[in-house]
Amino acid sequence: MLHIRAYRPQQDFRALLDAQCDLYEINFPRFVCTPVFLADQAQRLRVAGRRPMENGIFILDDDGVVAGFVWVAIRMDLQGAYGSIDQVYLKPAYRRQGYGAWLMQAAEEFIKKQGLKTARLYVTRDNSDAVRLYQRMGYEVMRYEMERSLD
Ligand SMILES: CC(C)(COP(=O)(O)OP(=O)(O)OC[C@H]1O[C@@H](n2cnc3c(N)ncnc32)[C@H](O)[C@@H]1OP(=O)(O)O)[C@@H](O)C(=O)NCCC(=O)NCCS
Repeated sequence: MLHIRAYRPQQDFRALLDAQCDLYEINFPRFVCTPVFLADQAQRLRVAGRRPMENGIFILDDDGVVAGFVWVAIRMDLQGAYGSIDQVYLKPAYRRQGYGAWLMQAAEEFIKKQGLKTARLYVTRDNSDAVRLYQRMGYEVMRYEMERSLD
């Protein structure tokens, strides 16, 4: 049965690492997944697994198989502490069925349990499935990151 549970590093590490190339390729058109990138992500994930108060990682579990996950990190900026929803990922077969919202709710509960009132995230404008999910959940645009091609 599908359910959300906490990340278990020994059991889930490989599945989360395996999703990294897909996650970045979807969101960054010029991104190339290299062994160096994967080594960096593996290191970030190992550190996060050792710091569960600062990193909420939740798994969508389908009878023992990792169907998706969300990774939220507690961060600080000039406006104070907030929860940064850094990664939300569903394997392709699990998309567009409402599970993205399950993962987002798990992330938001974690942020609230840490005593914080703000959830923040970055999303690529053209990733319309993700943008729609966030808008449906009440996320609003607070800043723009702008670029122009100088070709
Ligand atoms: C981003 C991502 C997590 C969104 O997940 P999702 O499954 O599309 O989002 P939801 O779980 O909210 O599903 C909502 C869609 O499923 C549809 N749906 C179908 N059955 C549903 C059900 N039982 N309950 C709710 N929604 C259902 C909804 O109508 C909605 O479609 P719409 O957006 O056209 O209105 C997913 O697309 C993904 O993993 N993408 C790749 C990784 C990625 O880019 N992550 C974001 C990085 S910022």
